[in-house]
Amino acid sequence: MGAFEAFYDLALAPAERLGLASLRRRLLKGATSQHVLEIGVGTGLGLRAYAPGQSVVGLDPRRPALRRARRRALRWHIPLRPLQGDAQALPFPDGTFGLVVSQLSLCTIPDPLQGLQEVHRVLRPGGVFIALEHVRFPLAPVAWLQGALTPLWKHLAGGCHLNRDAVALVKRAGFTLLGVERYLAGLLVVVRATRPPT
Ligand SMILES: C[S@@+](CC[C@H](N)C(=O)[O-])C[C@H]1O[C@@H](n2cnc3c(N)ncnc32)[C@H](O)[C@@H]1O
Repeated sequence: MGAFEAFYDLALAPAERLGLASLRRRLLKGATSQHVLEIGVGTGLGLRAYAPGQSVVGLDPRRPALRRARRRALRWHIPLRPLQGDAQALPFPDGTFGLVVSQLSLCTIPDPLQGLQEVHRVLRPGGVFIALEHVRFPLAPVAWLQGALTPLWKHLAGGCHLNRDAVALVKRAGFTLLGVERYLAGLLVVVRATRPPT
């Protein structure tokens, strides 16, 4: 039980040391909403993004991941409510949250557009969605390679797709973009978006 999660944390450790952890810590700068939903919270590596005082509902379909996230939250003093669930059918009424976060989850959610439309629904008008994602590379030959590798990769990596265009998906779900930052020549993006006030 939880072997995949142990492997995941081990596999990500070098990337976290080389800058991912620091990017996560800077992810929410200025986003001060106290009641946050994180979709695809996984083992909780992204919990380092939160400031003291923010309380987080961490949603993920995998119980072993949520157990790790809970232990991590206790260690890092983050008030976390782990919740088993599916981002494609969020168990919250419309307009529940002022801030929703995704870290490396849009690559794995089976229908990311459906997940984003759900995020849009549970955000308050004027609320903010922040995503840190790896995406399809801007250069065609690399993007082609990502597409070719994805069928095998998603079997090895828990459903992860290498070739999704998170920015386009966020726009298609009805959000207004506030900003896009690109890292590693465009392989990683931070997208900030809002549900426009009605
Ligand atoms: C690559 S991991 C990222 C975990 C964590 N956010 C991080 O940054 O390390 C992708 C996560 O998305 C979760 N996931 C897969 N399908 C999902 C769904 N339908 N709804 C919500 N999360 C999902 C997986 O269980 C996994 O924990």
